[in-house]
Amino acid sequence: MSENIFNHLLSNESLFKNREVLHHGFIPSNLPHREKEIQSLVHNLVEALHGQIPSNMILYGQPGLGKTAATRHVCQQLMSRGRELGRTIHTVEINCCTIDTKYRVLSQLANELMLDTSKHVPFTGWPTDKVLSRLKENMERLGGGHVFVLDEIDHLVKRHGDDILYPLTSLNYELRNSRCCIIGITNDLNFTDLLDARIASRLGSEDIAFSPYNAQQIEDILAQRADAGIREGVLKEGVIKLCSALAAQEHGDARRALDLMRVAVNKADVNGDELVGIEHVRMAQNQLQFDQMTPVISGLPFHQKLVLYSILLNETNGLTNVSSGEIYSVYQMTCDNAAVTPLVSRSIGNVIKNLDSLGLITTKTTSLGRYGRSNRINSCIPKNIDPIQIMTNSDDSMKPVIQATYRLQSRL
Ligand SMILES: Nc1ncnc2c1ncn2[C@@H]1O[C@H](COP(=O)(O)OP(=O)(O)OP(=O)(O)O)[C@@H](O)[C@H]1O
Ligand SMILES: [Mg+2]
Repeated sequence: MSENIFNHLLSNESLFKNREVLHHGFIPSNLPHREKEIQSLVHNLVEALHGQIPSNMILYGQPGLGKTAATRHVCQQLMSRGRELGRTIHTVEINCCTIDTKYRVLSQLANELMLDTSKHVPFTGWPTDKVLSRLKENMERLGGGHVFVLDEIDHLVKRHGDDILYPLTSLNYELRNSRCCIIGITNDLNFTDLLDARIASRLGSEDIAFSPYNAQQIEDILAQRADAGIREGVLKEGVIKLCSALAAQEHGDARRALDLMRVAVNKADVNGDELVGIEHVRMAQNQLQFDQMTPVISGLPFHQKLVLYSILLNETNGLTNVSSGEIYSVYQMTCDNAAVTPLVSRSIGNVIKNLDSLGLITTKTTSLGRYGRSNRINSCIPKNIDPIQIMTNSDDSMKPVIQATYRLQSRL
């Protein structure tokens, strides 16, 4: 029988010492450069250890800035100190991207506080009031302090409004034997604008803003993770620096930096290289860009693909800084080739806005004085990505559009 296909990888000595340490979900025992934010959380949550009610909080900040990691770290420490002091403290974290209805959030909170699964709130079917009563019963039965962390809370509120936050922020008025504090975490700096003024003031009694890391701070974070996760001496000089600099360019995102480092080491591992160098980081960067862009491009609705293709076609014809009018005339030709009716020219403005917000094109508006305004539009897809190939692979209807020949005008 032939050799098992996993064998050669299992026998290879990996460059990783502990790959898990480089994954997002891993919570390091200390979080460099988040001392101030952690202190703010600790100052507030210590009230739970005193048997008092901590303030509700909202934590803000862009992706990858350690909001979830810092909150989990503090909650773990709070529970462990609570156990040592004989104080009953329960923390429950819910990700509102995955648990995204009022019913599911309340039932998840209630069920997390009940070990006996036969007494769990069912997946659907109860009136919401009954679920809320069950949650209160479970809180009262356990007693003590409860900290409910609603991560990515803006997703819940954007989809279903803020109704759920009213009963949750009112719990302390009704509880006798227990106390509760809500921590909302969000990327949306204008989150409180989505809330009713009363709820905003109850929930946001204390806000913490997480600011972007600079390159040096990311270097410290990576160095700590590399120590724990990667074999000594395998990272060449400059690897951590480059990962940090690249991530610092993207709003100082520590998750991005960890991804770059992990994928770079993995590339070296797969190649059988003994050291990880700058070239592996570049390969990792290309792959991450590709992984990020591909679903965005392939998921575009058909007419948006046609508009993007029209921009790319103009560019291959040497026409950059195009206006929406120039795009529209090429787009009409692509529609002919796809045998579909073009959208009206007004709608193209919205398509262009969407492609811009997805990071596929850049749009600069210039004023033409009394002749109005004009857009200068260019694609900004990284060179290592072939958007036309991605569009053809994901949508058969793009094939006749791409195979057709176009008589394009160039500017005089
Ligand atoms: N100061 C830090 N020290 C060590 N690791 C960190 C630090 N900040 C962030 N990280 C790591 O970066 C990754 C992303 O952090 P985290 O998930 O907490 O970001 P976030 O702010 O919650 O982002 P999002 O808004 O996208 O959910 C995690 O793996 C986390 O461990
Ligand atoms: Mg998070």
